[in-house]
Amino acid sequence: MRNVLFVCLGNICRSPTAEGVFQHMLEQTGLTSRIRVDSAGTGAWHVGKAPDSRAQKAAYERGYRLSHLKARQVAVADFDKFDLILAMDRSNMDDLLEMCPPDKQNKIRLFMDFAENRRFPEVPDPYYAGSKGFELVLDLVEDASKGLLNYLQVNIAGRAATD
Ligand code: 4NP
Repeated sequence: MRNVLFVCLGNICRSPTAEGVFQHMLEQTGLTSRIRVDSAGTGAWHVGKAPDSRAQKAAYERGYRLSHLKARQVAVADFDKFDLILAMDRSNMDDLLEMCPPDKQNKIRLFMDFAENRRFPEVPDPYYAGSKGFELVLDLVEDASKGLLNYLQVNIAGRAATD
């Protein structure tokens, strides 16, 4: 079992989109019993809320459902619980590194490190960007999710003997 946490600022746009898209890919590939996903925000402003309606709509139009998700804030216990903690941008990554115990910091990576498209090193914050921003988030999240799935499949196969 591998546990993956997606992290952004508010946990209402980018990271719930990543959770919904990646969960969909796990279902399509029959990996839901091997890989668990969750998402959280570094900020607390939107705790308890469903994803932003613009994120939900853009995702729904590509076949992903986000309506059941609820925002939560990253907790220090997450650094124990999760194997991989994927930040949407460098600011999220800096905030995570600041609160993470030194011996767990190697779990934190930029999500876009797994993407094929090297033009975007980060998933840009779409909150003030209009509907095009949400489409870009989905394009980038789909790209990085494919790369992440390949990485985890190799990783799980490599560790199968010890799990
Ligand atoms: P997210 O987007 O980090 O992708 O969930 C944001 C949501 C809310 C705010 C900023 C970014 N905000 O400032 O409230």
